[in-house]
Amino acid sequence: MHITDLPFARGFIRVCDDGWLKGWHERNGGNLSYRLSKAEAEEAAPLFTTGDDWREIKTSVPALAGEYFMCTGSGKFMRNIRENPAANTCIIQVDESGARYRLVWGLTEGGIPSSELPTHLMNHEVKKNAGSLCRVIYHAHPVNLISLTFVLPPEGKAFTRELWEAMTECPVIFPEGVGTVPWMVPGGRDIAVASARLMETFNAVVWFHHGLFCAGATFDEAFGLMDAIEKAAEISVKIRSMGDGKKRQTITTENLKQLAEGFGLSLSPLFI
Ligand code: 13P
Ligand code: ZN
Repeated sequence: MHITDLPFARGFIRVCDDGWLKGWHERNGGNLSYRLSKAEAEEAAPLFTTGDDWREIKTSVPALAGEYFMCTGSGKFMRNIRENPAANTCIIQVDESGARYRLVWGLTEGGIPSSELPTHLMNHEVKKNAGSLCRVIYHAHPVNLISLTFVLPPEGKAFTRELWEAMTECPVIFPEGVGTVPWMVPGGRDIAVASARLMETFNAVVWFHHGLFCAGATFDEAFGLMDAIEKAAEISVKIRSMGDGKKRQTITTENLKQLAEGFGLSLSPLFI
């Protein structure tokens, strides 16, 4: 048996490949992490090596002590993951303090986990602390979503309403709305802290002029959320590119209230 035969690893590889085919992962753009369940970690354990040094996470995630994560490698291309998952992804274990990790599988040709590991782990920690079933954190660079960050203000309400109004399914898929992080230097603790704070409320956080982070209980949910938001962003970009760019009609606040009633949604009052 190989790690890559296990269902969680197959689901992981499929998201990387599908994201690449969607055009969301130029070069090494984007990254993915998955928190293994206890049963999955036990099944995979005979295939782990544990001789690796403990290394700094560069933030602290005490609620994730001892947990295992599959994640993409820093500088590795999503495009190459299906071809050679062991060289381009890894499984790490967080230590008992939550400040360090060690490699237990993968990155066979060298490397380290994604530079966005602090954001991934802090997002996982927020979701776990909230009792959420979230196991997947997915970061991509989708072109329409990024384009919108040049014309919309970095405010949750503006972004959420733009996306909700673009496609009737959007308020159903993310009734809590989306959070926004104004432009920040990626790859460090500061952007991780800003993102994790928003992940307390949202499952999707926009990084201005950079990309999107999505959280989900399953690979389908995280990928589906990314896909739905990018599709809504594409519709919005097209509307804004047609004629004078003004909408003649839209999904109104009244319509959103009707939708909430019809579907039993609790749409965020912040955005109504
Ligand atoms: P990594 O290759 O380190 O995962 O970085 C890619 C990226 O998208 C940074 O935000
Ligand atoms: Zn990125």
